[in-house]
Order: sequence, then structure tokens, then C-alpha cells
Amino acid sequence: MQDRALPEEQLQGLMEVARLADIGRLVGIVAHELGTPLASIALRAQSLGQQAKDPRLVALEPFARFPRYLKTIEEETFRCKEILSNLSDFARAGSAVPRAEDVGEIARRVAALLRHDALRRQVTVEVRAETDAPPVRGDTARLGQAVLALARNALEASGPGTRVTLVVRRSPAGGCELVVTDQGHGVPPELAERVFEPFFTTRGPGWAGLGLTLCQAIARSLGGEIRFESLPDRGSEFVLSLPGSRNGPATRGHEPA
Ligand SMILES: Nc1ncnc2c1ncn2[C@@H]1O[C@H](COP(=O)(O)OP(=O)(O)OP(=O)(O)O)[C@@H](O)[C@H]1O
Ligand SMILES: [Mg+2]
Repeated sequence: MQDRALPEEQLQGLMEVARLADIGRLVGIVAHELGTPLASIALRAQSLGQQAKDPRLVALEPFARFPRYLKTIEEETFRCKEILSNLSDFARAGSAVPRAEDVGEIARRVAALLRHDALRRQVTVEVRAETDAPPVRGDTARLGQAVLALARNALEASGPGTRVTLVVRRSPAGGCELVVTDQGHGVPPELAERVFEPFFTTRGPGWAGLGLTLCQAIARSLGGEIRFESLPDRGSEFVLSLPGSRNGPATRGHEPA
């Protein structure tokens, strides 16, 4: 194996991946930790607010503004609590806790994310989610990363006037398959073995060569796999294959994390 020191740029990319995974966890902890003191501040402000309305106090010039100020403190504290609660929902959605996820919905979100880039490249991006495709056990953030990596690769390989298709379907074994097809330049057969290697890229500076490595790691962590077929100058088909969630306790969508 070749011994390669990592260029600064690639090291940064790897650190970014690790950092993003940690941010969700950190946000969850911080939101939870701040919740209690904020609730206590809001309660105290509420109770002081009641006392400050006493006419004997309001009659004294320095206390006249107290009720209004305390009301503001109370309202703003509740606003902080609301922000934290949204953040903590977001962190939960991004945590590694397995839930039943609708891959079709994830594919639609990824396509929406790439819409602008696709327009610029004059590539049509199409999503087709078959109704019998089962949900999978995973978490939105990681599944989203995998689907995004595949779709970005397809787009990057595509020329103007071509089409990228994301199909979500039921596999013969009852699992869920995401098939990303492009009509791009394809993977040369001699490189087929290497595309999943960390830091392997044919795209030059600015590309980490981590997209497919990450995809494969995510697929395996969910009990699935990723495979592909490609014809030079005809296009590629990458298949992310995941077990369905039917056997697990999860149901589609929103069970508590
Ligand atoms: N759909 C595709 N069509 C043609 N070649 C592809 C396709 N997907 C991947 N490849 C090849 O596999 C290589 C590795 O892909 P990978 O996604 O791991 O890294 P990358 O796209 O180069 O960089 P990044 O880390 O930003 O994703 C690419 O550089 C490209 O040569
Ligand atoms: Mg890539």
C-alpha cells in the first residue's frame, strides 16, 4: 500500500465530517442542560412580576418600570426555551438513534437541495419513490449524507441535457433500494476497485475522495451495502441497498428517539 501523507485540504475535509457528526450530539446536550436554568429564570421572573404589580411599589418612581421589564424577561426566556427546543428536535433528527426512515422522502429532500446546481448544469434530476418501498432503520442525517453523496457524484459526472434519476424501490428480499442513475462519463473499469477507497478521487483539488467511503460506511453500519455498475461514456448506476425496518420495533416516521 502506498504511504501518503494527507494534504492539509483532505485532512480538513475529514475533520469536517467528524465535526458535523459531533455537532448534533453537542447541540442536544447543550439544549437539555440550558433548559432547566431557563425554566427557573422564567418562573422567578413570573413571580417577581406578580409582586411588582403591587400598587405601593408601582407608586414609587424607581419601581414603576419593573412589571414591564419583568414581563420582557419572562417572554424572552420563553423564547430562548423555544429556540432550544427546536434545536434539540433538530439534534434528535440528526442523532445516530435508529428510527424508521422514508428513503423516498430523503431522496426528495436531496433532490431539492441539488436543484440549483442541476439547473446550472442543465441536468434533469428526477425522483421516483415506489409506494411499496419499505422504510429503513437509520437516521435522517446519516441517510441524507449517503444519498447526497451519491446524487452529487451523479450530477458531477453528468453533461448538459442528461438526466439523473433517484429511484426508491422494494428489493426482491423485501428491503429498500435507492438506485441513483446517471448518463455521465462513467467509471473506467480499471478504477472500479478503487472508488470506495478513502481519498480516492479523479476530480483533482477541492475534492476529498470521501463521498463513496462515507456512503459505504453508512450502508454497512445499517446492515446494508452499496454496489454499482458503470459503462464509460454511457453512465453509472449506484445501488444503496438497506434492510427494511419491518422486523424491528420501529414504525414509519416519528417514534421517540
Ligand atoms: N456517478 C459517477 N460517475 C462517474 N464516476 C464516479 C461516480 N461516482 C463516483 N465516481 C468516481 O469515484 C471517485 C470517488 O468518488 P467519491 O464520491 O468517493 O469522491 P469524490 O466525488 O471524488 O470527492 P468527494 O469526497 O467530494 O465526494 C470520483 O472521484 C469519481 O472518479
Ligand atoms: Mg463524491
